[in-house]
Amino acid sequence: MQTGSAFSVKEPVVLHAQNVHKQFGETIILNGVSLEVHKGDLVSVIGPSGCGKSTFLRCLNFLEIPDRGRITAAGVTIDRQGGPWRRADEHMAHRLRTHVGMVFQSFNLFPHLTVLDNVLLAPRIVKRQTDTVKRDQAMALLEKVGLGRVAGRYPLSLSGGQQQRAAIARALAMNPDIMLYDEPTSALDPLVAEEVLNVMRQLDAEGMTQIVVTHDMRFARVASDTIVYMDGGHIIEAGPPDVMCVRPTDERTRRFLGALL
Ligand SMILES: Nc1ncnc2c1ncn2[C@@H]1O[C@H](COP(=O)(O)OP(=O)(O)OP(=O)(O)O)[C@@H](O)[C@H]1O
Ligand SMILES: [Mg+2]
Repeated sequence: MQTGSAFSVKEPVVLHAQNVHKQFGETIILNGVSLEVHKGDLVSVIGPSGCGKSTFLRCLNFLEIPDRGRITAAGVTIDRQGGPWRRADEHMAHRLRTHVGMVFQSFNLFPHLTVLDNVLLAPRIVKRQTDTVKRDQAMALLEKVGLGRVAGRYPLSLSGGQQQRAAIARALAMNPDIMLYDEPTSALDPLVAEEVLNVMRQLDAEGMTQIVVTHDMRFARVASDTIVYMDGGHIIEAGPPDVMCVRPTDERTRRFLGALL
């Protein structure tokens, strides 16, 4: 959340990843990635294709199990030291996921359910509760993302931008502390993408903590508090957009941004 004040006090850390390692087979994808995210921040993660951005994001809510590393999200900590993934770990991961919403490039809505039922069902599945979100709360979330009028329609009858906004409303229905997005707009044309980005800006203004993997440098530059540059299994550098886009320290960041901007 950009306050514009030179004297703004940093909010508490709400997500802390420490020394996260992940390999697939013999290939090391994440080689000790650490990141601190403060409450209300909007963090953009950028970097070349295949550098591990999605893997890192998925590790943050244990859709992918890190081999090693410690992750704390909204007060829930999971510490991996390379041992087997046990039932108790899965229980903790489930607890952690109730605080962390996730939005994917391909929306992943249930096609056989209306938009409203998609929003109503999410908390029942994730939180295993019967009526976490009432109909009027779900409708309020759909209104918030501009979909009140299409609540009764099925996802495939909507535009990509509408589907993605429905996916955001569905994630919000869990009342998360943190939202993760993996290239939320890369399947969308620019005008429709803007509707989705506007929802993210609105959430930012309301104080939501958001981490977005994106190739959209314009959004990253204008909307983020922090841009994180990943390459070769590491976070190479991170900083405010003006610093990262104008005078990045590392040669790899300079080359990547030079090609993009
Ligand atoms: N489940 C998996 N099994 C094996 N290899 C995987 C798996 N998931 C990802 N990888 C590999 O890990 C590497 C990092 O993938 P990842 O999807 O995290 O990259 P990315 O930075 O998100 O790339 P992009 O910008 O193209 O989305 C790639 O080489 C990918 O092929
Ligand atoms: Mg990816």
